[in-house]
Amino acid sequence: MDSIRVLGGRELNGRIPIAGAKNACLTLMPATILTDEPLTLTNAPRLSDIRTMTKLLQSLGAEAASLQGGQVLALSSHDLNNLHADYEIVRKMRASILVLGPMLARHGRAEVSLPGGCAIGARPVDLHLKALEAMGATLDLRDGYVHAKAPSGGLKGAVIDFPFVSVGATENALLAATLAKGTTVLNNAAREPEIVDLAQCLRRMGAHIEGEGTSTLTIEGVDRLGGATHPVVVDRIELGTYMLAPAITGGTVECLGGRLDLVGAFAERLDAAGIAVETTDEGLKVSRRNGRVNAVNVTTQPFPGFPTDLQAQIMALLCTADGISVLEEKIFENRFMHAPELMRMGARIEVHGGTATVTGVPRLRGAPVMATDLRASVSLILAALAAEGETVVSRVYHLDRGYERVEEKLSGCGAVIERIAG
Ligand code: EPZ
Repeated sequence: MDSIRVLGGRELNGRIPIAGAKNACLTLMPATILTDEPLTLTNAPRLSDIRTMTKLLQSLGAEAASLQGGQVLALSSHDLNNLHADYEIVRKMRASILVLGPMLARHGRAEVSLPGGCAIGARPVDLHLKALEAMGATLDLRDGYVHAKAPSGGLKGAVIDFPFVSVGATENALLAATLAKGTTVLNNAAREPEIVDLAQCLRRMGAHIEGEGTSTLTIEGVDRLGGATHPVVVDRIELGTYMLAPAITGGTVECLGGRLDLVGAFAERLDAAGIAVETTDEGLKVSRRNGRVNAVNVTTQPFPGFPTDLQAQIMALLCTADGISVLEEKIFENRFMHAPELMRMGARIEVHGGTATVTGVPRLRGAPVMATDLRASVSLILAALAAEGETVVSRVYHLDRGYERVEEKLSGCGAVIERIAG
C-alpha cells in the first residue's frame, strides 16, 4: 500500500488544473445501459473509481474503453448480455447501484448486489428501491442481492416524494424514468451539479427532462434513447479541496476550470475565514486576505448548502485558525474519522456525535497518520502541507479513488510531496 510523504511549512504558489467530476462520471457511465448507441464521455477524471465502474460495465457485456490516457470514455451497451452486477465489484464502490435503474428501464430485469456500508456510514439504498417500486418494479432482496423485475409493459411513470434528499436515489430514479411509460415527478430531488450534468447528458440522448437543479424533476418517458458525446462537469469537490491549499499554507493558487457557482456555500465560508476568492478568465484564484485565518462554523447540507465532501478538508484549515470553530455533519453518521489523525498532528478537536469543535492552535506538527476514507485522506495531506516537519500518510489507495496525480498537482505549486510505493 502506497504512502505519501510531505515536508510541510512552505507557501504554495502556482496553478492547478481541476479534473472532471468523479461523482458526475459515476452516474453518467451507467446511462450507456439506456441505449444501444455509443455514449462518449470527455473530460473524464483518471481515477480508480472510474476504472471500477468501467470493469462493472464490462462485466455486464458492455463495451467500455478508456481513451486518450483515460480522459475519454467510449461506452456502448449494444452487446450487453448480463444483468447480474456481482458483489465482488459492487463491494468496491457503492455507486455501482446506479446500474440498477437503467437495467430495469431498458431490459426489464436486474440482479444487483447490495453495496453494503462503508467507513462513513451504513449508507442504505432504501430510497433507491422505493423509487423503483413506485415505478412498478418488483424487488426481492435475497442473498445480498436485489432481484428486480419491471412489469411486462415496462416501468411506469410515477410521482415520487423523497422523504429526504438523496443524490444517488435521485440519480437512479432519473435514469429509470427516461424510458418509463408516462410522466415521472421526483419531489425533494437532489439539486447537486452532478445531477444537472446527468440531466443535460440524458437530454442530449433524447430524454425529456425538466427542473434539474431544483427540488422537482419532471421526466416524460420516451420509447428509446440515442447516443451522445458529453463533457463531464468540473469536479467541485476537487476544486474546493485545492482552494484550501493556499488557504492553509499561504501563497496564491489559481484553480483552472474552477467555477464559483459550483462552490457557492463553500466559498462563502472561506470568505468568512478571511480567504479571498477571485474569479479569473481561467478559473478561481485563492489567497489569504491578510495573513490570518478566522475560525468559522460549518454545517453540511445537500446542495446548494455546504458539501459534506468538503467537511474534512475545511476542518484541516480550521485546526490553525484564530478561535473556535464548530462543524456539524448532518449528512453522514460517522464522518469525523480524520479528527483523531489530525489530533496526532497537534490539532485540538472534540467530537460529540455529529458535532466537532475545533480550537485553533498556532502550528500543526508533522506525524505518521493513516487515511480512513477518501475525503479524510486529502484532509490529512492539506494539514501536512502546513505542518512543521514531515508527515507520512499511509493507505493512500483511499486518495486515489477521488484525486488524480495529487503529488504532481501540489508539487507543481511548490509543495515538497512524494509518493512512497508500499
Ligand atoms: C453521493 O453519495 C456521493 N457519491 C457522496 O460522495 C456524497 O457524500 C453524497 O452523495 C452526499 O452529497 C457519489 O455521488 C458517487 P446520498 P450518495 O444518497 O448518493 C442516506 C465522495 O466522497 N441514504 O445523498 O450515497 C445516506 O446514508 C462520496 O465522493 C439513505 O438513508 O449519498 C446518507 O446519510 C462520499 N437511504 C444520506 O442519505 C438511501 O436510499 C445522503 O446520502 C440513500 C441515502
